[in-house]
Amino acid sequence: MTASSTSNALPDLKAIQALASADMAALDSLIRQRLASDVVLINQIAEYIIGAGGKRLRPMLLLLAAGALGDAQGKGVGGDAHQLAAVVEFIHTSTLLHDDVVDESDLRRGRKTANAVWGNAASVLVGDFLYSRSFQLMVELERMDVQKILADTTNTIAEGEVLQLLHVRNPDTDEAAYLRVIERKTAILFAAATRLGALLAGADAATQQALHDYGLNLGYAFQIADDVLDYASNAVTLGKNLGDDLAEGKMTLPLIHAMAHSDDATRAELRRIVEHGDIDGMPAALAAIDACNSLAYSRQRAMDYARAAEDALAGLARGNHTAALLGLAHHAVNRDH
Ligand code: IPE
Ligand code: IPE
Ligand code: MG
Ligand code: MG
Repeated sequence: MTASSTSNALPDLKAIQALASADMAALDSLIRQRLASDVVLINQIAEYIIGAGGKRLRPMLLLLAAGALGDAQGKGVGGDAHQLAAVVEFIHTSTLLHDDVVDESDLRRGRKTANAVWGNAASVLVGDFLYSRSFQLMVELERMDVQKILADTTNTIAEGEVLQLLHVRNPDTDEAAYLRVIERKTAILFAAATRLGALLAGADAATQQALHDYGLNLGYAFQIADDVLDYASNAVTLGKNLGDDLAEGKMTLPLIHAMAHSDDATRAELRRIVEHGDIDGMPAALAAIDACNSLAYSRQRAMDYARAAEDALAGLARGNHTAALLGLAHHAVNRDH
């Protein structure tokens, strides 16, 4: 039986959260302890965005991966895993502070973005604070193997964001170019999280690679789902405004697919909308996306990556934590926020 054919028996998000709840509570108190600065504005902004919550998916994945491999060795999840989970969430949050400036977004986690409240300069600088705070936490572990993974990961994320910038308002961006961007800006951090969980649990190199592959594929699925939600959700559920991608002239998978499958007149209109980042073009973009079944196509591609994520775990013993990882691969695609 393949991993993907067992998906009906997988735990849902509630069950996964219950399994991870003690570790996530430890993570939360660590995050709060380590957020502090005596510069008031840093505390205010950091508390504002971290206090809004977020799904905490990346640290949860790290902790579940550590649990899955720790279970196999009768070890459970250690304190270093909590610390690295906080590192990963700080890195993620700092990229969100920067991303909302670059994307000119004004809603995040159901609140006005930090840039909308305090301005771009404060957001960028507090993003830098969180970034460097994550390095402070990381080096406390005194592990060069961990530092190498995170140094490479953060460098790759920066490349991904810049690569994406190069494609903004470029209607010729195709699916391959899109996939290169999302691997770097998003998937690589998921891969690092799950690999680090395995590494800390003392897993061998092949198992670390399997967890990396799981995280990477899950990350692709997660970003494609995010890009579908930008056209298909609503702001209250999503906690972000819809249409941010089109307004930025960002070519994401639904639009790329619609562009490739529309008639010449529609394609010309879509090109104009992307070149101008014209949010008033949203009805026309949605109509083309609808006519080409581009959301269904994108969801299917996300599902393909989720299956690849599951398959990467085929060699793992099937305890509760492994089942939770398999369940999260599905959740990444089927989520509504
Ligand atoms: C948002 O990530 C950025 C993407 C890679 C799409 P999340 O959707 O995990 O954001 P939070 O942390 O839950 O707010
Ligand atoms: C976010 O991509 C990627 C990173 C933060 C590195 P998006 O721009 O799609 O994320 P949202 O939609 O703003 O959360
Ligand atoms: Mg954004
Ligand atoms: Mg998005």
